[in-house]
Amino acid sequence: MSNAISKQEFARRRQRLMEQMESDSIAVLPAAREKVRSHDTHYPFRQDSDFAYLSGFPEPDAVMVLIPGRDHGEFVLFCRDKDKAREIWDGYRAGPVGAVNDYGADDAFPIDDIDDILPGMIEGRERVYYAMGRNAEFDKRVMGWINAIRQKVRSGATPPGEFLDLDHFLHDMRLFKSAAEIRLMEKAAGISAEAHCEAMRACAPGVHEFQLEAVIQHYCAVRGGRHPAYTTIVGGGANACVLHYIENKAKLKQGDLVLIDAGCELEGYASDITRTFPVSGRFSKDQRRLYDIVLRAQAAALEAIAPGKHWNDPHEASVRVITEGLVELGLLRGSVQSNIDDGKYKDFYMHRIGHWLGMDVHDVGDYKVGGEWRVLEPGMVMTVEPGLYVAADNTDVDARWRGIGIRIEDDVLITKDGYRVLSSGAPKEIADIEAMMAQ
Ligand code: GLY
Ligand code: MN
Ligand code: MN
Repeated sequence: MSNAISKQEFARRRQRLMEQMESDSIAVLPAAREKVRSHDTHYPFRQDSDFAYLSGFPEPDAVMVLIPGRDHGEFVLFCRDKDKAREIWDGYRAGPVGAVNDYGADDAFPIDDIDDILPGMIEGRERVYYAMGRNAEFDKRVMGWINAIRQKVRSGATPPGEFLDLDHFLHDMRLFKSAAEIRLMEKAAGISAEAHCEAMRACAPGVHEFQLEAVIQHYCAVRGGRHPAYTTIVGGGANACVLHYIENKAKLKQGDLVLIDAGCELEGYASDITRTFPVSGRFSKDQRRLYDIVLRAQAAALEAIAPGKHWNDPHEASVRVITEGLVELGLLRGSVQSNIDDGKYKDFYMHRIGHWLGMDVHDVGDYKVGGEWRVLEPGMVMTVEPGLYVAADNTDVDARWRGIGIRIEDDVLITKDGYRVLSSGAPKEIADIEAMMAQ
């Protein structure tokens, strides 16, 4: 998948994972499958993130096996065999030789031989690490291999006694980004931030939402981030109040705001940025007031990010600022504290401050440990994305606020001394946005 991650780093990842596996165990991880989009055509293939993290191997129809302590090699890869005819139609295949030479496998076999070979590797191992339940078809095959061993018990075979989950160790490793991963994520966020600037410059009344999506996608692709990390959201006016709005069909109107949530994936790593700006280039007085609340909520959340703080601290900081702002403008009645305590603020801010970010846009990693919110540590990357959404049909508030949706989202690395915003290339101060749109 990635030249930006060295062969040595992939090897270190496998080593660290194997060190955490129980004795006498084996891990089995399947590659992602190709998905049909319509007859004879597939969605662009994307490798499974766990599989990619441990191998860098970019092909479907592959299975990686980790066997700590195996004499003939600990990292075994089953993959598609070389096939001249298929390669003319579908492209290059590494084949087992390439798996060894280019991807560091100790041993590699054609995937078509897996039923004959893998049971022999599992046999005699006490424990199998396998993420059961993610891929029903592959679950069946794993059970088939285990049953094949069970059938040979009377000839002396010993089937494994235990199935274990690899996710916990593996996902904790993925949560902490290496220097090479941080470089990639910073680059991805930088490209996406620039793409948001392009969209701001291209925006005008009468432009369609999908046209801004196209501006973003074109810019990211030209810079190497060919695939979006998730479907781009471009919501003009009240469409911004639909959190995962991806229709992107409407025409943008003078006087409305437009919310764009978009980020490219680069070499398997995601970026995730949201900016909200006026279609015409100038915020109205009321839009400014609501926008300023979200901006201040984000600043407060960022100030609550540092090693030793808890995952929930930035969220709580954002809730307080948003609730204070809503009370001040009269969208919420009563005291700030009572609106926080009874959750009334959720009518306007119904999601959380963010999520881990990495190979997956909503990345892996636990948010709580031992029942407590996780302590933030250097090397974690998270989004910080407070929002404020006033439903168009909310008759509890003055009509001038209705149908306004605002979110400001940045990608943030936790560092030794605090944090670093990776996506600062996209303006978010009102004056800076208006200046950029005037260009
Ligand atoms: N783009 C999805 C999210 O912000 O979580
Ligand atoms: Mn987002
Ligand atoms: Mn996000």
